[in-house]
Amino acid sequence: MTVPVISARHISKSFGLHKVLEDVSLDVAQGEAVCLLGRSGSGKSTFLRCLNMLERPSSGVVFVQGRPMGYRERGGKLIPLSAAEESEQRRHLGMVFQQFNLFPHFTVLQNVMEAPLRVLRRPRADVRDEAMALLERVGLAGKAGAYPNRLSGGEQQRVAIARALAMKPEAVLFDEPTSALDPELVSDVLAVIRSLVESRITTVIVTHEIGFAREICDRFIFIEGGSIVEEGPAERLSGGAVLGELVGVPVVAAREITARIAGAFLT
Ligand SMILES: Nc1ncnc2c1ncn2[C@@H]1O[C@H](COP(=O)(O)OP(=O)(O)OP(=O)(O)O)[C@@H](O)[C@H]1O
Ligand SMILES: [Mg+2]
Repeated sequence: MTVPVISARHISKSFGLHKVLEDVSLDVAQGEAVCLLGRSGSGKSTFLRCLNMLERPSSGVVFVQGRPMGYRERGGKLIPLSAAEESEQRRHLGMVFQQFNLFPHFTVLQNVMEAPLRVLRRPRADVRDEAMALLERVGLAGKAGAYPNRLSGGEQQRVAIARALAMKPEAVLFDEPTSALDPELVSDVLAVIRSLVESRITTVIVTHEIGFAREICDRFIFIEGGSIVEEGPAERLSGGAVLGELVGVPVVAAREITARIAGAFLT
């Protein structure tokens, strides 16, 4: 059997007394696209952040291509990595955030070149050629010399995607990549993500765009109260549902309500 690109084993995460994730396990195979659904506050972002060690899980381990994130194995034991080793390891998973997080004082091209130059210490000419090819891929070669504040939100997000790809990650994690965008800018970003998925780049995507998730993803995971309560093939998602409509539903008996909520998304 091939090793999953990402294998999250029994991830729990608490902030103080607040338990945000409880025993979440997920395997993502090479080339698979998995969407993560759930209401606001259910723990989706925290789970993504645990995958690439932006948050250290309180318990459980994430393996990327079989390597434990945040640890090295020695004599059958897991030894925590230093902060520097951890950030070096983080490059194996690309991350695209809701708020693009570009470096404002760098041009578009410099944003894409920065990590391969600084972290991987690769030759500038190669990095530049690859960065230009990536900008071409996201439809922004013409903006290479522009600064982020001159770009629309959709363009900035496409630069952020190119920047994530520049590190040649094993998988890309998207956290609501279109929810900060004006509606007319969403489709260009979704088109870029669709093309990545079609090229079989392994992806995990948190999204409220249920129709899009159904169209491009292989599988969905539904998180409620920090646990996976439902999962299945993405075809089961009903196209018209908008998860945002559920914000504000009081959580009285989370699991019971979840069954109903999940039901609203499933055909
Ligand atoms: N650094 C933190 N410190 C304390 N609590 C946190 C922290 N990060 C997240 N939380 C809490 O964890 C819970 C889950 O947050 P998370 O951001 O993972 O939810 P989410 O599913 O991504 O929600 P949304 O759809 O609104 O983005 C929330 O109650 C949040 O307040
Ligand atoms: Mg979130």
